[in-house]
Amino acid sequence: MAPPHVPRLPDALYARTAPYYNQVLRTWWVSTPDGVQQVLTDDALSAAHGVPIEQLTARGPIVVGMQASTDRRQDDLRGAVTPQLRPPRDGFAPIRGIPEVATRLLDQIVEPRTGQAELVKEYTQPFAAQAMCLLMGLPVAVASNVWRWLEEQVDTAAPTDPTPLWERQWAPWLALLDQRRAQPGSEVGGLVDYLLRLQAGRYRVDGRRMSDEDIAACCTTLLAVGAATVAASIASTVAYLHQYELIDAVRAEPTLVADAVREALRCEPPLPTVRRRARTAVEVDGQRIPAGEWVTACLLAASHDPDRWPDPDAFKLGRAQGQTLAFGLGEHRCPAEDLAAIELQVGLSEVVRRLPGLRVEPTAVLERRWPALVPGLVDLPCRFDADAAIAVKQQRADG
Ligand code: HEM
Repeated sequence: MAPPHVPRLPDALYARTAPYYNQVLRTWWVSTPDGVQQVLTDDALSAAHGVPIEQLTARGPIVVGMQASTDRRQDDLRGAVTPQLRPPRDGFAPIRGIPEVATRLLDQIVEPRTGQAELVKEYTQPFAAQAMCLLMGLPVAVASNVWRWLEEQVDTAAPTDPTPLWERQWAPWLALLDQRRAQPGSEVGGLVDYLLRLQAGRYRVDGRRMSDEDIAACCTTLLAVGAATVAASIASTVAYLHQYELIDAVRAEPTLVADAVREALRCEPPLPTVRRRARTAVEVDGQRIPAGEWVTACLLAASHDPDRWPDPDAFKLGRAQGQTLAFGLGEHRCPAEDLAAIELQVGLSEVVRRLPGLRVEPTAVLERRWPALVPGLVDLPCRFDADAAIAVKQQRADG
């Protein structure tokens, strides 16, 4: 039987065409590598959405929290968190804790000796969310909320609770900040306490003192987007390795892990598109785009350019990768790229090493979350050699 295939996104997302106006999404659609590069780096295009946060009650509060209403607000929030996301090479506490997170979760998968696991809910999602909790200096229990928040954002049913979604999702953070302020000098460090120290030092956001809502916006956005991208990417890397029968090769040769991670990010950037708004009229790929209009850069299409990556739909180890587009470009390029790369490599190498004989369930029909900001696999049912996995666990405990 052919191995289960990694499902594609809609074909339109892979096509490289001249820019056109997408009437349904109400945005200019830019998909060639040059066009995408320009959209991401041209000062005429702004990453702020221009809508006051309070009006964004219906959809996406945690995702838009940092992608703020004005350029200045966004620059200030980004300026606050970025130093904490670019880890120094040695001694960055969250990185030291990441392998432990993987170990704990994989022990829970191995111990029942069933040789079966659903890797998205049992591994990639909790791994990525708990790694973010380490970064933020929060108890790992907070991680379990992240996926519910994201589900709430795509739930189209009429809300039963009249409180706006952004208020509901930020409320626990506001309580947490009060609690943290009441216990100065607590043992727990991390991004949350760092932001509180900035606030106490009168850090300014959009011309006024940083508020608790600003901190909540940073925390919810980072926790949700940081976790969703990493979780989706580890799951699809395992699925591609399985489809192309490369899991054993990567297990036998750990130096292939980084290559596998990079190739999966090319085949499937976790954020397939990013949005901008034209500050002034601008020409992109020969198309004039009027001021004020939305522009979407399709990273997925650009990273399937056959001139740069021959046979672009195929997942191949050993490609000359060059610059990845998955983390964006220019001023807004992902500031957590190094941290994310470490999470992806640890998350992948541990699952492959700790679950010998890892295979996607042969009868599984894999599905994607779509439409979604991060259209990862819904689940990834897998099998592995239960006895061999127990032996690896034992060796680890002994060694
Ligand atoms: C596989 C993992 C990840 C991928 C592929 C990814 C991708 C991206 C991309 C494409 C952008 C640019 C968005 C734009 O231009 O509008 C971005 C921005 C950003 N990412 Fe990531 N990201 C990942 C993980 C993370 C993690 C783990 C964190 C936090 C710890 C993070 C924090 C951010 C922040 C704060 C920005 C906003 C930068 C700005 O607007 O200036 N990302 N990311």
